[in-house]
This record gives sequence, C-alpha cells and structure tokens, in this order.
Amino acid sequence: MRTGRGLLHGVSLIGGRNAARATLMALRRRRADRRLVALPDRPRRQPGVMGAATVVDRSVRVDFGTGLLELRFPGPGRVSVGWDGALDQPSWAVVEDAELAVPELERAGATWLARGPGIAVVVHPDGSLEHRDGAGRTRRRDGPPAWQGAAWSVRTGLPVGASVHGLGGRTVWDLRGGAYRCWNTDPGGAWTVGSDPLSVTTPAYAALDDLGAVHCFVDDPFDGTVEVAVDAVTAAFVGGPVRWHVALGSLPEVLDAFTRLTGRPAPPPRWALGHHQARWGYGSAGAVRAVWQGFREHDLPLSALHLDIDHMDRLRDFTFGSEWREIAELVSDLAADGVRTVVIVDAGLARDADYPQYREALERDLLCRDADGEVFEGVVWPGPTVFPDFTDPTARAWWGTQLRAYADVGIAGYWHDMNEPSVFVAFGDPTFPLSTRHALDGRGGDHREAHNVYGQLMCRASHEGLLDLQPGQRPFLFSRSGWAGMQRYGGHWSGDIAADWTALAATVHQAFGFGISGVGYYGSDIGGFTGVPSPELFTRWFQLMSFLPLFRTHCAFDVPRREPWEWGDVVMDRLRVALRRRYRLLPYWYTLALGAARDGAPYVRPLAWLDPALRSVDDVFLVGDAVLVAPVLAEGVTHRRIVLPAGPWFHGDSGARYDAAAVEVAVGPDDLPWFVRAGAVVPTEELDDGVRRLVLLVAPPAGPGPAPGGLLRTDAGDGWDPPHEERYGVQVVDGVIVVRREVLVPGAFGFDEVVVRAVDGSPARLG
Ligand code: GLC
Repeated sequence: MRTGRGLLHGVSLIGGRNAARATLMALRRRRADRRLVALPDRPRRQPGVMGAATVVDRSVRVDFGTGLLELRFPGPGRVSVGWDGALDQPSWAVVEDAELAVPELERAGATWLARGPGIAVVVHPDGSLEHRDGAGRTRRRDGPPAWQGAAWSVRTGLPVGASVHGLGGRTVWDLRGGAYRCWNTDPGGAWTVGSDPLSVTTPAYAALDDLGAVHCFVDDPFDGTVEVAVDAVTAAFVGGPVRWHVALGSLPEVLDAFTRLTGRPAPPPRWALGHHQARWGYGSAGAVRAVWQGFREHDLPLSALHLDIDHMDRLRDFTFGSEWREIAELVSDLAADGVRTVVIVDAGLARDADYPQYREALERDLLCRDADGEVFEGVVWPGPTVFPDFTDPTARAWWGTQLRAYADVGIAGYWHDMNEPSVFVAFGDPTFPLSTRHALDGRGGDHREAHNVYGQLMCRASHEGLLDLQPGQRPFLFSRSGWAGMQRYGGHWSGDIAADWTALAATVHQAFGFGISGVGYYGSDIGGFTGVPSPELFTRWFQLMSFLPLFRTHCAFDVPRREPWEWGDVVMDRLRVALRRRYRLLPYWYTLALGAARDGAPYVRPLAWLDPALRSVDDVFLVGDAVLVAPVLAEGVTHRRIVLPAGPWFHGDSGARYDAAAVEVAVGPDDLPWFVRAGAVVPTEELDDGVRRLVLLVAPPAGPGPAPGGLLRTDAGDGWDPPHEERYGVQVVDGVIVVRREVLVPGAFGFDEVVVRAVDGSPARLG
C-alpha cells in the first residue's frame, strides 16, 4: 500500500491530469476483465498410473495413462522435464538447438531410471522425480505436478540446508521463508528492501549447498508464485506449459547451462563499462552540454550521458523537443570527446493523430487491442497512450526501424522503460487488462501469457532493429523489465530505487539475483532515484557502483542535482578516486564482458562462486574470480568485517595481505576495501602522454603450486571481430614474481606497451 506521501509524490511525477485519467483507467481495466475468457481447462488432473516408458527421438517418454512425461538430456548434468507435450510448445526463452544426448532407460524395481551424461532421473510410480548427479547423489525431488483447471503446481524437495536464490531482481539474496510472485510489476514509487514483485520476476532459481548448485528454470510465462520454504520450493502458475529445465553442478556450470539454453549475454561495447551520467529533467541540449563541460573541467572521466523523457517532443518516442534542436551537433561533440549519448525509449506511444508513429502503427494494425477489438489505451507520461504488440513479429520489425530517428543523429545506446508493461492506475494492477489481445507470434492469446515477456520482446525488437540499422556495431541497450533470455539483448537497471541504506545493500542482492537469472550487466541509480541521499550515502553508493557493470548516476527531476561537483570538493575527490580506478580496471571489465558472452558467467558473483560454503555471504562480492569487493553499506562505518574465500587476498590499495577466513579491516571515508586474489593477474591500463599501457596487476602467489594467473580479452571496443585473447601464468623466480604471456587468439591488441606491477610492491616482471 502506498503511503499518503508516496501517493502525493506519485501525483507530482505523473501530473494531476494523468492522476485523474489513472482513476478512469483502473475502472476501465476492471470492466474489461469481467469479459476475461477462462483459460482452457487441462484434460488431466493427476499423472495417473505409470505404465510403459520408451525413448523416442532421444526423449524419454513415460506414459501415465492420463498424462505423458517427457525427459530430455541437452547436456552434462542437465535435464528438461515436460508434461503432455509441453517441451514442444513454443518458448519465449529457450533458443538452444543442440543435439540431445541419447538417454539410457531401464526398469529399476517399481521405478524407471533414465540416464543422461552426468545425471540420472528416477521416475517414481506417482510421477515424482528424483534427480541424481554423476556421483549418484540425490540433488532434487520433484513431486508429481498437481493440476487444477488451467493452473498447475509442483513441489520440489531440495537438499537439506540448501539456500535458494534468484527469481530475477529480488531485494533479498536468500529467498527462504518467502513467497515470490512472478509477474513483472512497476512498484509505482521508489522501492526498497522487501518491495516485491519488481520489474523482473524470472522464474529461474538456484539452490546452493556445500556440493554446489541445482539450477531450475520453470519455462512458464504465466502469472506464478514461487514459495520458498526450508528445503522445498513450490512453484504454482495460473496457466501455461508444465515444464522446467534443471542443471546440476557448480554455480559456474549451471549458469553456463542456463545461458546455453536461453542464449548467451550480448556483449556491450567497451564504452558501456565506463561511467554514465543521467538525470530526469536536463531539459535541453545546452544543459547536457554544460554537464559534459563540468566533467571536463573537474577532470572526471565520463563515457555516456543519458537523455530522459524530457528530450522528447511532447513525451513521444523517436522525437526531440524544441530545446534539442542542436542534438546532432551535441551528440557529435560528445562523441569526439569519447562520450556516447544514450536515450530513454518508453514502451508506449502517445495517442495523438498528429504523431506519425501512432498513425502508422494504427494503420498497420500493430497495436495491442482490448477484448472488444478496440485499440487498448492506457495512461503513461504523454497522457493517453497506446502500445505496440511486441509479441507480433511485424510490430517488432516496424519498431526496430523507428530507431533510425535516433541512430541518424548518432545515439549510441537505448534505455528501455515502462515495459513491465506499466500504466498509471489509481488502484489495482498497474498494467494492461488481462483480457488485452496479443498476437503471440501468430498463435493469438491474451495478456496472461504476454505480460511477463512483453518488455523482453520490446528489447528484442530494438536489438534486432539495431543489428539491421548498424550492422557493424554491437547494440547497446538496458531495460527495466525482462524475462528469461533477456541477456541476449542487453542488461537491466534497478528501476526507481529509494535513496536509503537498505536499498543500497539490496543493490548487491539484485546484482546476484540477476546473475542467477542470466543477466550480468546491471546497476542501480547511484544515490537512489527519489529522495535526497546524504553525501555519505551518495559516496558509498558511488563507490559500490564503481564495481558493478552499469555504473550510472541517475535521479528524478524533483530532487537536487547529483553531478559530482554538486557535492563539494571533498566528496568530489572521493568520487574521482572511484572513477579513476574504474577506468584503470577497464581491461579487466571488458575481459569479463567478452567472457560472459561465451559462458554466461555474470561479471559480479557471490562468494559461493568460489566456495559454496560461503553462500550466505551477501555483503561481499567478486568481480570476476580475481577481485573481491567489500562495499560499505551502512552509515558511519569505520571498520568492516569481511569474509574471504581461500586466498590469501591482497588489499587493492595498501597491498596488505590477508590470510584469515574473516578479517576486520579499517575503512576510511575515501574508499571501499577491495582485494586481489593471491597469484591472480588483473589486466589494467594507464594512459600516459598518448601511450596506452597495459599494466598487469599481479598479487604474489600463495605458494609454489600453480597460481590462478589471469586472462585478457580485448578488441576494437565494438564490432564483431573475434577478440584478441591472452593468458597469464604466474611464478616466483629468485624472489621475483614473473608473469608469462601466452597469446591464445591474436587480434586487435591495442596497447602500446605491457608492464607488470605487483599489488603489494613486490619485485615483478614480465617473463
Ligand atoms: C521511470 C524510470 C526512471 C525515469 C522516469 C522518467 O520512473 O524508472 O528511470 O527517469 O521513468 O522517464
């Protein structure tokens, strides 16, 4: 429930007229849904009696008389489970087309035993399933599904002591003890810890215990709830196919499996890993130019400036208002200085006869329609708003071509918003009526199936459009909403996060949760979207975000300015420290980005990535495998307890060595503690009088055994050429740390010289 203050703030954001329209909209929505047609009932209520099992086309089929179970084994440690043909029904998420493994099937007492590589599934007479890993250990037990009308549910038993994580962008890391709705929702105000659901509610989760991970993606886009108890998860959906995909293994292995299934992350261009500055309400090209000048004057690195909805003519997508006449010149001046321009794009189009995009979409029948066949009209920023049906391939293709208006003036990136989809309503669910019609790629249906995938399909439309418009460039976009497979098109940001300390801590949890759900590129609005952060909160937020992939300052129009110099010299100097380090570390970030595109590994990882026993730690994280970050997440902190996986770890600034499993570290106001793993090499860079120097930052190895070493992937910063790849080995020879380079794939290297530097000042050299 929104508080009075929240409501008032809501009205200040959407305007009085829109607030009145939002009341009408809520009433209309209720009326429309009285005409909601019941979903088709399921023919079968329970699996029935287990009968024969066969292997047909590499699928194990077990006949339950009144239900048919299918098991497929797409790769090591993986099984796909479906009932009644669900695995052959269209999926918005699954893109994998790999050859299935040939399963082995045998009768084992009263059960059937189906085996794939590194996994076995025991099918019990009641239709329940036991998933065993390659060592024969039971890792998961699915009860028989229960059907009720169109709805279905399944209760899954998990290993004792396992914790559960993921389900999109939740505000807590360990999900046990809660029920989580899978229905993408704009919270309609600034969110904080416990706000749920939010804009991304992907039904993909990982259970972690000391043996590793059990990942599960329930491939059903309908409204659902996942209830997470101790040792069990119950997933219940109001309709949709009964199917789920399981992967067993380590956390890296199961995310590799999940992103094979749903697609590898789109690698962002290199500039997208630098710092982005945004604000709702810059209002004119001149104001943006002044912000850029501020960054130059104060010697603060910057990679992108973002234009919010105030760049538009009357809040219409694909247009620029009169205050932006010099947009092309501005974009090109910024680009000449290495600063890209990113624009927001909202999902809806203003309903106005003199708006060409509206007319065209209407004439070509590309808009969502209500149950009576009339174009569905909601209320968003421009007032009356209509919505392309992104589930229609023709609408997607049309949308993609509209981005030309931006591409032509040199816009380099796209920020996708209001695509849960979100409409303003005075009460009830802030989205389309459930009875809204959708094309669903030719199958036809309504919003119950389309809702959760709408935002992702908007991103697909843009991504594919950009590939056509600018084939030589990698599309860059990020989105407030999405679903499983979103990573194929881009990343996420937090949406409207509150300016408070607990929300700051939740940023780390969201980053982890998105990683489990396949999306690595993520960041939250530095300082919070609404509200006024104290200088300390802003600084700590900035420091944290300098270690998350999308490093962006953003806020609402009605809060004080947030550019670094607005905080005074002391704070600005602290921000500069974080900025400079981020830019030094860019070769490492870029290596991670290009790596994610190959194996789905999120850039930012919970400690469980290295050590499953540390799965409860939710306030320390890894960037890649070599850097550990202990952000400051509370006010007035002068010391921090930090849990460390096996190291030792070396402090990134002081070089101090830490061997213990948990350490207490003094924390000054100037920075946050960060560490480099013993024996690791972190590629960093320096620009020195036009010389671009690759600095291989190495931490002394723990002992004489093999050291972790490191990797560099680099390219021209954009485009499709295979990256240059080299590996680093580390040894100590006569008291000197020696780093040996080995080029794995030669490509655009781009550095003028290479040096080695030890994080603790030890003697070090290239071998
Ligand atoms: C939404 C977005 C926010 C943006 C605002 C205006 O609230 O989440 O980031 O600034 O709309 O476009």
